[in-house]
Order: sequence, then C-alpha cells, then structure tokens
Amino acid sequence: MQLSAVYKPEPCILVVFGATGDLTHRKLYPALINLAAQKRLPDQFAVVAVGRREKNDTQVRNEARRAAAAAGTHPSAAAGAEELLQRIHYFQMNFEDEAAYPLLRSRLAELDAAYNTQGNRIYFLAVAPQYFGIIADHLYKHGMAGNQGAWQRVVVEKPFGRNLASARELNARLTQAFGERRVYRIDHYLGKEMLQNLLVIRFANTLFEPLWNGRFIEEVQISINETVGVGSRGGYYDEAGALRDMVQNHMLQLLTLTAMEPPVDLDADSIRDEKVKVLRSIRPLTPENMESSVVRGQYGPGMIDGKPVPGYREEEQVDPDSNTETYVALKLYIDNFRWSGVPFYLRTGKRLPVRSAEIVIRFREQPGVLYFGRGYSELGPNLLVIKIQPEEGVFLQFNAKQPGSVGDIVPVRMDYCQNCGTGFDSPEAYERLLADVIRGDSTLFTRWDEVEYAWEFVDRIADYWDQAGTPVEVYPAGTWGPAGADRLLAQNGHRWILPFQCLLTDRPDLEKHGSRPVVGSCQL
Ligand code: BG6
Repeated sequence: MQLSAVYKPEPCILVVFGATGDLTHRKLYPALINLAAQKRLPDQFAVVAVGRREKNDTQVRNEARRAAAAAGTHPSAAAGAEELLQRIHYFQMNFEDEAAYPLLRSRLAELDAAYNTQGNRIYFLAVAPQYFGIIADHLYKHGMAGNQGAWQRVVVEKPFGRNLASARELNARLTQAFGERRVYRIDHYLGKEMLQNLLVIRFANTLFEPLWNGRFIEEVQISINETVGVGSRGGYYDEAGALRDMVQNHMLQLLTLTAMEPPVDLDADSIRDEKVKVLRSIRPLTPENMESSVVRGQYGPGMIDGKPVPGYREEEQVDPDSNTETYVALKLYIDNFRWSGVPFYLRTGKRLPVRSAEIVIRFREQPGVLYFGRGYSELGPNLLVIKIQPEEGVFLQFNAKQPGSVGDIVPVRMDYCQNCGTGFDSPEAYERLLADVIRGDSTLFTRWDEVEYAWEFVDRIADYWDQAGTPVEVYPAGTWGPAGADRLLAQNGHRWILPFQCLLTDRPDLEKHGSRPVVGSCQL
C-alpha cells in the first residue's frame, strides 16, 4: 500500500483500547482516515480495535467508515480510506481479564507477520481512566510493553488522575511498564494549529519578542469559552468540574506557552523544560489570597442562541444539589524576571454566550502626554489577540487618526486569519497528535513534571474549596459567568476583554469584510 509518499514513519500496529467508545469514533477514526489520505501513515501498518462487545472486522470497518463520514473527513480521503479500513481488525476482550492478554499478544504477532510491522506498537488507551493502570500492568506483565528490538508506546487520554496523589500512582504504573519516554499524555489543545503557531509568532518575529514582558505588557487574559453544556458527560463531569477538566490541563498549557522563555532548541525536552519553569514560577495561592484570586461558578437555566437551556443541576447524571463548578476564573502571577507584577487572568466556562478560545495581551498605556487631555478622544489599548478557535490567527489593535477628522483617534485593527479563506483546512488536533506518536515525537504531549506541577497548583485550589466548603456562584446560561469574575479584575482596575468576534461587532464595516458570522450574544 502506498500510504506514505511524504516521509516514511516506521512500521507499527496501532492498538486502540476502547474501540467502541465515543473518542475512537469522533476523533481517532476520522484522524486516521485523513492521515491515510495524506499518505502520512507507515506503509506497513494495521489497526487493532479492542473492545468488550462482540463484533467482527466487517462491522468495525463499517463503523469506522460511518464515523469518518459523520466527522466530514477531507474529500480526498475516500481513496486512502478504503485501503486503511481493510487493515482494521477487531479483538474482543475484557480489559480486566488477565487471561485475555496472552491471546491479544498472539493475535498481534499474527498481524505482525501479515503486515511486517516488526513488533512495533502504539497502545492508545481511549478508555475510562480507571482502566489506564490495569491495562498498563497487564501489558507489562505479559511482555507486551518493553520488548527488545522493537518499540512500544502508550497514549493516555485525560484525566491523568484526580489529584497529585492519584496521578503519581497512575504514573508509577505507566512508567514501570513503558518508561517516561514512551508515555504520550494527550492534551488535545497542544494539537491545535494556533498553539503550535504561538511559539513561531513569539520567537520568529522581532516585532513581538522585545515587548513580551512586564515592562510593556499590562495584563494577559486567557479564555476558553464554551456555549455547550455538559451534554451526555454529566457523570464524569460532576466528579471533575471545570478546575480539573480544563484548568489543570488546557488552560495551564496555554499559560506556559504564552509565558515561557525561548527554548535552547526546538526538541521536545527543551520546550518542555521551559514550560516547566513557568509552572514552577507561579506564585502559590494561599488560603489568605484564595478568595481574591479564584472564582467558582455554575450555570443555571438560561438562553443559548435564543433557545432555553436547562441549568447544570438539571442535566443528566448530575446531582440535583451539585456544587461542582462549570466555570472558573482566576488571577495568578508568575514570579520570574520577565513577568514580575503582571496579572494573568484565566477563565473557562460552559454555557457562555460565545464559543472562543484566545489569548489577549494588553500592552501598557503610552505616557500621558501629547494625545492626552488636549481635546483628543480617549486612547484605546494596544491589544494582541492570539485567536485559537473558532477562528485561527492573530489580531492586533492599535490607534490611528480617524481619516478626515481633525483630532479623533480611533482603534484600528490588523487581522490575520489563517482558516478563513478556502483551500486551507487546519488539521484536526488528533490528526497531528497521532502522526506525532507514530513518528515518536513527544513535543506536543505533556511530560510528567508538567502534570505534577499542574496538579500541585490545582490541588491547592481544590483542597481549599473542599475545606472551606466554597459554594459555586450560579450564573444564568448564556451570560458571561458570575459577577465575582468581574470583581476579580476590578481589584486591579482591569476588565475582561470581549472575545475577538465581539470586538468586531462595533465595526460593521469590518464585519462586512469577511464571512464571519458572530455566534451568540456579545453583550456583557
Ligand atoms: C475537553 C473537556 O478536554 O475539552 C471538555 O473535557 C471540553 O469538557 C473540551 O468541552 C473543549 O475542547 P475544544 O477542542 O472543543 O475546545
């Protein structure tokens, strides 16, 4: 099969535990089919889908075909897809049943012979977290994790533990079986195009890097706003909450990439070393400053896109008295030379008015001379917005004279959108991440020390909430979260900056410019 014209990754079998699950259908099958279409899979390659239900290869191939169609894979995917689908095999087993592992081993050996995959394996654990450790233990015990002369890698989804103690325990089991270098911990935000672009924007431009510090930057705001609620994941979510679900991983990843120093090299460890330094430099939150640094919210009933939606406590599998947060806003400081004194505001929530993920850098104001207080209009801030989604790109706001006026100064925008035109489709995060595991590049996966420091930070907040019994502040669905989040910034004389889509709404001329419908309501 000619799947890999671009480069030749090494032969391997991808073993997906949790083959019938949601993640495999929504993300893995479509990503694999797109990779096949781009000839980015090894020539000698097979997929073993492992699940508990009784199925045969044909059924699983049909499921994969349907999953890829539902995800809208790239039109050119059809040809490569059929070849790949014929290489998907099903293996039925109960993950807890130790006796099944030698059978799996024999089946993999047969497929090695059929596809010449040479004993190389990627085990993708797309299963509930309670199975991560069990599967790793059994793979290790049955000689499927550390074979000489071939490589084995394991990919784990979040949540990576529930707190630092449980993450350590899980990590010990995974690294006993595979060793740190072969453990690939997924944070799918790292697979998003703009996060990879962030380092290029920062370190490949003379324009930004000299200003990227507390002398020129007043504040940094990092937001992941979602319009969706918890959907069918109420059971998991009610145990986790936004702090564990979003802050421990995605939000802190955005923070470290924004704040890190230039790495000595672009290899995985050099980048991750710098990210870890940021996590180590976060000023620890203490019981004394917790209330003035962290806000905990939960959505009540409200309106999204003009339609009524239930409150969190009415969602399926959610405790009707739940005190789990669906929104977190926090203020933190990075006590290092570059960022001393600059507040970083992080917020994430479900059922907010607009879906957007972005990093906003607000630069310091100009000295109060020349254009201040002499009949000129008030100057707007210089803003640099890294747009992660739904639009991907960079947006820069600065001040210019209103053409034709005597002295009016207005904010104007330069706006780069990398996914607006036709002809470029950003690859799905999982596509990039899977390709990287196959190549053995762990740059976009979290290293254990990153996870450890992230949990240390998050545990302080969670433990405080538990001990103090901090109640959630309820906000109506479709609004910008609890009022406490505004007070958090007001203490420093700051305000949340509206998502980029909303910044454009006061400029109808700009709105007309492109096909960018504003989804949801931008009203504060
Ligand atoms: C997941 C969280 O990791 O990220 C979800 O578990 C959240 O609760 C999702 O909705 C957001 O990801 P994205 O890519 O849709 O922004």
